[in-house]
Amino acid sequence: MADLRPAAGQAGHAGDPVLQTRGLSMVFGGLEALNNVDLEVGRDTITALIGPNGSGKTTFFNCITGIYRPTRGQVTLFPAGLPAIGLKGLAPDVITHHGLARTFQNIRLFNNLTVLENVLIGRHTRMKAGLWGALFRDRATRREEREAIGHSFELLVSYGLDHMANELAKNLPYGDQRRLEIVRALATEPRVLLLDEPAAGLNIGETSSLRDLITSIRERERVSILLIEHDMSLVMSVSRKIYVIDYGRLIAQGPPDEIRRDPKVIKAYLGEE
Ligand SMILES: Nc1ncnc2c1ncn2[C@@H]1O[C@H](COP(=O)(O)OP(=O)(O)OP(=O)(O)O)[C@@H](O)[C@H]1O
Ligand SMILES: [Mg+2]
Repeated sequence: MADLRPAAGQAGHAGDPVLQTRGLSMVFGGLEALNNVDLEVGRDTITALIGPNGSGKTTFFNCITGIYRPTRGQVTLFPAGLPAIGLKGLAPDVITHHGLARTFQNIRLFNNLTVLENVLIGRHTRMKAGLWGALFRDRATRREEREAIGHSFELLVSYGLDHMANELAKNLPYGDQRRLEIVRALATEPRVLLLDEPAAGLNIGETSSLRDLITSIRERERVSILLIEHDMSLVMSVSRKIYVIDYGRLIAQGPPDEIRRDPKVIKAYLGEE
């Protein structure tokens, strides 16, 4: 039978890069927090970025999401079927609009807004109504708002938070706050979802439901995931490919089985003790 799939580079195949950095470097004063990092996130896959404390993982996210302007190097997004987009130098909201969404190492929710409102804020990046529409609430704006509420509520249903839709975010158990932050990031309809230590502070049961959440997002949404995480059993069980950095430099990359046995990786982690 004929292969009807589009050629690579048009719609993109699973595993082709959707996000790529080349020579990414970030210098703070005299400190090279990132040094020449080449990393690729494969389309429709889960990729992990690991490394000891202070090795540059969060700095990597800050550089690709526009919070920091990298000192050197390139960040390129390859949206399926569209021309490549250089992200370096773009503002964070523009980068979100191009399809990168993230969560933070320390949860950043609007504590005094409800669960549904928190997700709606994520959804806003996909709404067309400008200031004019928002001020005068014309028909198109009201319709768009209704759609946004519907879409946000569906996300809550899909990811098991609908029964808490009207709770204030601050009243949620910690594990559900982590979950909500991820769902809010999904509301921006990302091509790439960046998770910075989503298991931090979770107990064993919560970490296990986080694992289910991450795998079900990968299965249900057309999204690629880049995961920073210290919980090795989580990383090893969900990732297709793992990158390891130490002192801002890549020291290893490969599938979980290779990384687990790599002497350079073991040494980097043991050196931490
Ligand atoms: N804005 C900044 N100014 C100066 N130094 C910074 C800045 N942000 C990060 N650093 C330094 O860069 C290095 C990497 O920090 P980063 O937060 O990226 O590490 P990390 O791998 O995320 O660590 P952890 O696992 O503890 O979260 C550290 O030495 C940190 O002190
Ligand atoms: Mg960090």
